[in-house]
Amino acid sequence: MLKMGLIGLGRMGKYHLNLYDSMRDIHLKALCDVDEKTLLNASHGNDVFATTDYTELLDKVDMVTVAAPTSYHFKIVKDCLKAGKHVLVEKPITTNLQEAEELFNIAAKKNLVLHIGHVERFNGAVQELKKIVRNPFLIESRRVGPYDERVKNDSIILDLMIHDIDIILNIVGKDVINVEAKGSKVYSNLPDFASVNLIFENNAVANIIVSRITQKKDRTLSISQEDTFVFLDYTNQDINIYRKGSSQHIFGERELRYKNEYITERLFVYKDNPLMLEIRHFVDCVKGNVLRMIPVEHELRSLKLALKVDDIISKKEGRCEVHA
Ligand SMILES: NC(=O)c1ccc[n+]([C@@H]2O[C@H](COP(=O)([O-])OP(=O)(O)OC[C@H]3O[C@@H](n4cnc5c(N)ncnc54)[C@H](O)[C@@H]3O)[C@@H](O)[C@H]2O)c1
Repeated sequence: MLKMGLIGLGRMGKYHLNLYDSMRDIHLKALCDVDEKTLLNASHGNDVFATTDYTELLDKVDMVTVAAPTSYHFKIVKDCLKAGKHVLVEKPITTNLQEAEELFNIAAKKNLVLHIGHVERFNGAVQELKKIVRNPFLIESRRVGPYDERVKNDSIILDLMIHDIDIILNIVGKDVINVEAKGSKVYSNLPDFASVNLIFENNAVANIIVSRITQKKDRTLSISQEDTFVFLDYTNQDINIYRKGSSQHIFGERELRYKNEYITERLFVYKDNPLMLEIRHFVDCVKGNVLRMIPVEHELRSLKLALKVDDIISKKEGRCEVHA
């Protein structure tokens, strides 16, 4: 049985922790959080070693999940890899490409599995996309929701949009040749919403909107391709496919009416817990049972593009007027 350690027991760490008990081939051996109270609250009995210093758990485990704040990822992941541990680190792996590359180089040299927690890849609806999407022309993505003070110091691009960038890059499978981006501050000192336009080498276009100032949560992806329009809802893990669309203006005596007809197909999506599937995939890779879903050479494409978007926005960001 593989021995697991978990570093960082905040919001994301607790989701990981809650899933280990149901996984038969993992033995949770050690927990770490710098905050003693948090550590105590997450206590898992005498069998599980608990510490406020992650270096103390390294000799007790085979693999580690790192769910500490992003600014600590580089140091923690590097120490874990140097100690010969496989690592699943929450996204974003780092806020800097050179550091992320260094971590993957260490993992490669030591023959260790290093995964980034891009949990949306394991959303049942996203898994189905691979079977449906062929040569998309236009992609529209929305990931919006209400403001949360907790994330006011995080880049909305590295925190939210990186999910969309990751999925879109994987479904288009071509290089991006042009990026336009605009973001504005509303409540925090960083952009609270952003709009990004990507053009790919095959002329496919992606428009991505992220916002943490929108009262209604909405996480959707639409894809227009030849003969089909695909609409995906991340939250419900739902996909609808629209085919044979036609539209018509009907001129009556008193009014002008518009008719849009199409055939809709609601896809059956197997809905499992995406985080559970992500951990499962990591463990299966550690065991050597499966190949990683995204090859290492493609793993940092989304971070690279997200950093570029962040950079473009920071050079021309504005502030929206908030009226009291
Ligand atoms: N995959 C996703 O969809 C998703 C969603 C939310 C957050 N995240 C990522 O998860 C990570 C954690 O985010 P969160 O929202 O859980 O943060 P959080 O602030 O709720 O929790 C972080 C925890 O780490 C602890 N910590 C801080 N420094 C530490 C250290 N050196 N060693 C051990 N523990 C330490 C803190 O005490 C805290 O309990 C971030 O990288 C974030 O981007 C990913």
